[in-house]
Amino acid sequence: MLWNDNYLLGIEEVDNQHKKLVQLIEDTKKLLVDAQDGIDCYDELVAVLKELAEYTQYHFNCEEKLMEAVDYEDIIAHKMEHKIFIKKISSFMSEDLEEEQKEKIEELVKFLFDWLVRHIMNTDSKYVDFI
Ligand SMILES: [Fe+2]
Repeated sequence: MLWNDNYLLGIEEVDNQHKKLVQLIEDTKKLLVDAQDGIDCYDELVAVLKELAEYTQYHFNCEEKLMEAVDYEDIIAHKMEHKIFIKKISSFMSEDLEEEQKEKIEELVKFLFDWLVRHIMNTDSKYVDFI
């Protein structure tokens, strides 16, 4: 279980979305079982990446609307972090995902989880007091 209550920000809508994102990271991690056995996970990997891309876009839009509503002072830097994340996901999607799936999934899970935890704890946590 990757979720930890330390990641709660106290804004129910945002916390639920973060939990859903962690769930999607867990779904990605589950693909490793097949990938380690040499089973082709191309379709599942493409599907989970697509879901991740769509859901993060939805989640980022929600957060940005919350920040805009209170004229949050650091919104530009915050939005930039979101943009970089979306770029990274789309660059993953444009890689050749037929080969070295185990390594690619491991790299993806590590990136997603590290990024999300760091972003919640260091960046999202800063707008909470303004909402
Ligand atoms: Fe954020």
